[in-house]
Amino acid sequence: MARFIIENSPPLKGSVKISGSKNAVLPILAASLLTEDKCVIHEVPDQSDVDTMCTLLERLGAGIHWDKNAGIISTAASGKLHAEAEYELVSKMRASFSVMGPLLARLGEVNVPLPGGCAIGARPVDLHLKGFSALGAEVVQEHGNVRARAKKLKGARVYLDFPSVGATENIMMAAVLADGVTFLENCAVEPEIVDLANFLNSAGAEIRGAGTDTIKIAGVKTLSGADHTIIPDRIEAGTYMVAAGITRGDITVTNVVADHLKPLIAKLKEVNLNVSETDAGVRVNYEEGRRIVAADVKTLPYPGFPTDMQAQFMSLLTLAEGTSIVTETVFENRFMHVGELKRMGADIKIESRSAVIEGVKRLTGAQVKATDLRAGAALVLAALTATGTTELSDIYHIDRGYCELAEKLRLLGANIRREEENGEKNN
Ligand code: EPZ
Repeated sequence: MARFIIENSPPLKGSVKISGSKNAVLPILAASLLTEDKCVIHEVPDQSDVDTMCTLLERLGAGIHWDKNAGIISTAASGKLHAEAEYELVSKMRASFSVMGPLLARLGEVNVPLPGGCAIGARPVDLHLKGFSALGAEVVQEHGNVRARAKKLKGARVYLDFPSVGATENIMMAAVLADGVTFLENCAVEPEIVDLANFLNSAGAEIRGAGTDTIKIAGVKTLSGADHTIIPDRIEAGTYMVAAGITRGDITVTNVVADHLKPLIAKLKEVNLNVSETDAGVRVNYEEGRRIVAADVKTLPYPGFPTDMQAQFMSLLTLAEGTSIVTETVFENRFMHVGELKRMGADIKIESRSAVIEGVKRLTGAQVKATDLRAGAALVLAALTATGTTELSDIYHIDRGYCELAEKLRLLGANIRREEENGEKNN
């Protein structure tokens, strides 16, 4: 398995361009199944999760062309589509489950493997299925699969028990071609939801209220093609903003939407870092002599503090002055990075859904493992400041959601290199 070799690095300095958002492009690719016409998607990040989604769409019968240099994917789901998704792909990437809504709406039947749990939690899909039932689908779970059927979905009022991102996206996509009007209440308001709705509306859908807790979807007969540019990845941006803090550096993230970063910006300021919006983007810099101090963080659905930044921010707090409490309210098992950070000398105690962090003077390099995407990123950040060498393995997790992380960090001054399985060094 490939791994990162990371040495203690100087304060990182410079600017870094942020890629398109993984969590926006994945549902948008799935949504392209709703139309027979060609869709062109720009700013597509070169990540392994996008590869998986493209493979899934091709297996379902869609034509996919990905110009990786240009970051453009063209899709054409004009031919006969299959209603069955393969276990191998859905078990590899939960986001594959978002093909369920589009296929149900387009074909009137779909059979998708239940995505099991993952490192960060059980991650059930009950809210998705309740939504499809409310739209009139007959939903059956058997043999590890979910089968849903409906001659024609009918608009309905759907109240989500929890503002789930995935359920909001899946039900919204199903409702786009339904007979009548659907109201999706207590739904997720993440920027990725708005980006999906904008993509669908540019293809002829009638969606209002995305970004608020009630979305109205007036069903239409068919959708046309679309030409859409993906929003920047606020979590990738957040990771580099924390890198500036943890290395006591000065980094500007470019190609970002500052509004999407508000909850993180507030916390970075609270721990005594300077954050400013510039023409180019958002700048985070450490001010000599101003110690980084402890803070309490509670993850919440947007616009609360993002759970996808919890691990990276915890790395920063391990070196802050004082005691911080990080409470994870979105996923029930998202502290897998704690054990690895403690191997690097961090002082952390877990008490049910909170981690109590006593700031230490320094971390030390060690052999550690990425247990999931964001945990991996958090360990990279910790290793940049640790004394000695860190060997980070299982970085395939990181490849799922970051484009060229090592290269981008090296351009900012980091001592990091990628070592392939065969020992080949990859600069
Ligand atoms: C999306 O996952 C993101 N993934 C996650 O990012 C992100 O952490 C999460 O939203 C929350 O922001 C993608 O967009 C591809 P949820 P999703 O449905 O849609 C429970 C990353 O690091 N729930 O909002 O799966 C669920 O178990 C990834 O990029 C139900 O109980 O998140 C969880 O506790 C990780 N029943 C909570 O809701 C359901 O039917 C939030 O899940 C659905 C969800």
